[in-house]
Amino acid sequence: MRIVALGGGGYIGSYLVHRLADQGHTIWVLDTNMDKIWEHDKDVPTTVDLDVRDLRAMSEAELTEYCRGADVVIDLIAHATPALYVKSPIEVVELNYNENMRVVRVCAALDIRLIQFSSCEVYGLALDEEPFKEDKSPMVLGPVHETRWIYASAKQLLERMVDAYGIHRNLDYTVIRPFNFVGPFMDYLRGAEHDPVPRVFPQFIASLVHGFPMTLVNGGHSHRTFTYIDDAIDACMLVIENRNNLFGHRAVNVGTPGNGILIRDLANRMRMVYASLTGRPQVDIIEGDGVGFYGDGYVDCNRRVPDVARLEEAGWAPQYDLNATIRKTLSYYAQT
Ligand code: UGA
Repeated sequence: MRIVALGGGGYIGSYLVHRLADQGHTIWVLDTNMDKIWEHDKDVPTTVDLDVRDLRAMSEAELTEYCRGADVVIDLIAHATPALYVKSPIEVVELNYNENMRVVRVCAALDIRLIQFSSCEVYGLALDEEPFKEDKSPMVLGPVHETRWIYASAKQLLERMVDAYGIHRNLDYTVIRPFNFVGPFMDYLRGAEHDPVPRVFPQFIASLVHGFPMTLVNGGHSHRTFTYIDDAIDACMLVIENRNNLFGHRAVNVGTPGNGILIRDLANRMRMVYASLTGRPQVDIIEGDGVGFYGDGYVDCNRRVPDVARLEEAGWAPQYDLNATIRKTLSYYAQT
């Protein structure tokens, strides 16, 4: 297939691009930065075309020409870091909704299948103990002054518009909702405590690598489900291949339900494993409150577990439990 990967130079995209190339697909990657693609492998196959450009600098006509002839467009363009939701909410909506809507329109006009990356964040507050089901779980967000939810609002509206284009403009689509993918080549590591905060796993790794304390936000009582990146990419490949049209016109959770953990337990396990891998002393763990750590408007989502029946129906079975996920990821960072 000919595949356009918008934002394909990021953490998830760089894995997908290499896997798609290995499987013989032709990929056109548009991103502002391709470093992660080269970090995986300096020899990028000739079937991968890297175009270093900002989607925002392209007109809709240019974007249309760029995508013309593709069988599938994968849209990975997003700001997906909670620190940004409260610091730059307008920018978060402009990129995550306005820019992505241009991609939706282009795919509908050209009759190209769209794979739209969304987020487990769309589920918002977990109101009960059930795992989140794509077509059943309510999506409940807090009030407007809880600025954190602006990202989930943008992603929810994007998903709803993608679905509306599916119904009214015949757009063929799948929405992917990732649940905390982790592994080598993650979002940047902070070099110092005053740098902007990435998501929790790279943030804790930065603490381990640079030796500053891990902060447990609001006691670290929130729960997340961590998915090893190779399992996540296996799932994304099933979605892209879309055998028997299992994933047509729907959203799909991608996450490993058995890999759930409280953040405070995650911090402890990560520092123990890192100490055993490197022989270095364990870093300290301190506590901080969410608003002090991230800024006004930060609230948290207490619990996130995916229902993955849809993926299992397609034959997906994750290979990495939480121990393997933590150990494999930290082994990479212990060596670099
Ligand atoms: C983020 C994004 O908002 C989602 O869109 C994305 O799908 C998800 O990451 C993901 O990785 O898939 P979230 O899991 O809330 O969602 O983001 P993190 O920044 O990784 O925070 C997880 C938990 O760790 C939160 O409870 C946070 O308060 C806590 N945390 C974070 C700490 O206790 N200490 C830290 O230093 C950083």
